[in-house]
Amino acid sequence: MTGKDNRKTFHIQTFGCQMNVRDSETLAGMLEELGFAESKNKREADVAVINTCSVRENADQKFFGTLGQLKKIKEERPDFVVAVCGCMMQQQHIVDTLKEKYPWVDLIFGTHNIHEFPRLLTNVISERKKIVDIWDNSEDIIEGLPSKREFPFKAYVNIMYGCNNFCTYCIVPYTRGRERSRRPEEIINEIRNLAASGVKEVKLLGQNVNSYGVGCDFNTDFADLIGQINEIEGIERIRFTTSHPKDLSDKLIEAFRTCEKLCPSIHLPVQSGSTAVLRRMNRKYTKEEYLDLVGKLKAAVPDIAITTDIIVGFPGETDEDFNDTLDLVERVRFDSAFTFLYSIRKGTPAEKYKDQVPEAVKHERFNRLVELQNKISAEINKACEGKVFPVLVEGPSKTNPKNYSGRTETGKLVHFRGSPDLIGQIVPVRITEGKTFALFGERVEE
Ligand code: SAH
Ligand code: SF4
Ligand code: F3S
Repeated sequence: MTGKDNRKTFHIQTFGCQMNVRDSETLAGMLEELGFAESKNKREADVAVINTCSVRENADQKFFGTLGQLKKIKEERPDFVVAVCGCMMQQQHIVDTLKEKYPWVDLIFGTHNIHEFPRLLTNVISERKKIVDIWDNSEDIIEGLPSKREFPFKAYVNIMYGCNNFCTYCIVPYTRGRERSRRPEEIINEIRNLAASGVKEVKLLGQNVNSYGVGCDFNTDFADLIGQINEIEGIERIRFTTSHPKDLSDKLIEAFRTCEKLCPSIHLPVQSGSTAVLRRMNRKYTKEEYLDLVGKLKAAVPDIAITTDIIVGFPGETDEDFNDTLDLVERVRFDSAFTFLYSIRKGTPAEKYKDQVPEAVKHERFNRLVELQNKISAEINKACEGKVFPVLVEGPSKTNPKNYSGRTETGKLVHFRGSPDLIGQIVPVRITEGKTFALFGERVEE
């Protein structure tokens, strides 16, 4: 089926983290260069791409569920092309399952050969054949690929790829390969071009941005890079994710004070509050070291918002270990936390750990943690009432179409009465109500 303007159409469904969202922007850019137009509905598209995540088991399940739905479309329209990519494809057992049980998938590629997508897709379409092409690793960084970005006023920018940390629960080092940093001049060029096209906020992406530049033939570290981006005219906000506590340097903490565009917010995944569990996770810091870091950050940037990731029920986690996590959460007072039930990942060291925690215990702990964190988030957000924050307006609110929503410098979601002309602007908003997951406010006329 073709779009109104006779172009063929594509639909991309993305699972997983911001890395994957960014990769999907590249895939969309390549599809547009090939002459396709985006379709909001995969049932009507000519090409459906599913960009997968394998970080937890439920991500796998969602993917196979989605593939099941596509089978019907393929039966109705044999020309419909199904392409799958992303982290799951870097696992041999997944590719084997696809080949055996999902014969309606036309193209399988991985995280290391995204730049090959146009050629692979063209071959699939012109030769009406199936292609499976997965690379084990990548040494080079391919620059200059096209992109179709979601917002004209804010953008994700990759600064590095891969991960060398091998936390024992995590699949990412196996699906994304070894750490590679982009050259600083490539990053600066990209951000200059973004600024010239109206982008005000950049979010720098990497699995561990704190080790940017390590082992490279240039001398720019992460704090230096932020300093350079801070100089780019037109850019008003700089954010980054994710930051590994073991590599968070004093120099970066100092950058929060010297770079006025660096937003006072940091996502600093702690994973557990128990030093014993952290050791078995191979995180390379203790509970006390994490608390010290938080102390330093708060001393340097008093209004900093700290968010985190926590895994509940890692193998061997005792009641005492879990109490250490609750204690840490109470002491740090995170603005918000992503909490996950530990999920066994094939091929990771923790898969083989004997003392897996029973599901019922995991759930009980998880609920207690969420309850505590929600209480803290609600208290912190309540304390915002009456204050005025600059808010970058993103668009109509998803929950109430009469409202507009945007984000404070600390990354908090704010809903307020607005108008379409404010989209992409930074406007002052007075907070009238602070709830657990969002703030509500009213615009202050300047
Ligand atoms: N590079 C980032 C995180 C990437 S994965 C970092 O180091 O912080 C995002 C989050 O998923 C992790 O922080 C962790 O909390 C969670 N996660 C990863 N593997 C998991 C697993 N096997 N089970 C449950 N949660 C997991
Ligand atoms: Fe996974 Fe750890 Fe690397 Fe983060 S730092 S991606 S949790 S291995
Ligand atoms: Fe998922 Fe891959 Fe990101 S496993 S979390 S999409 S790096």
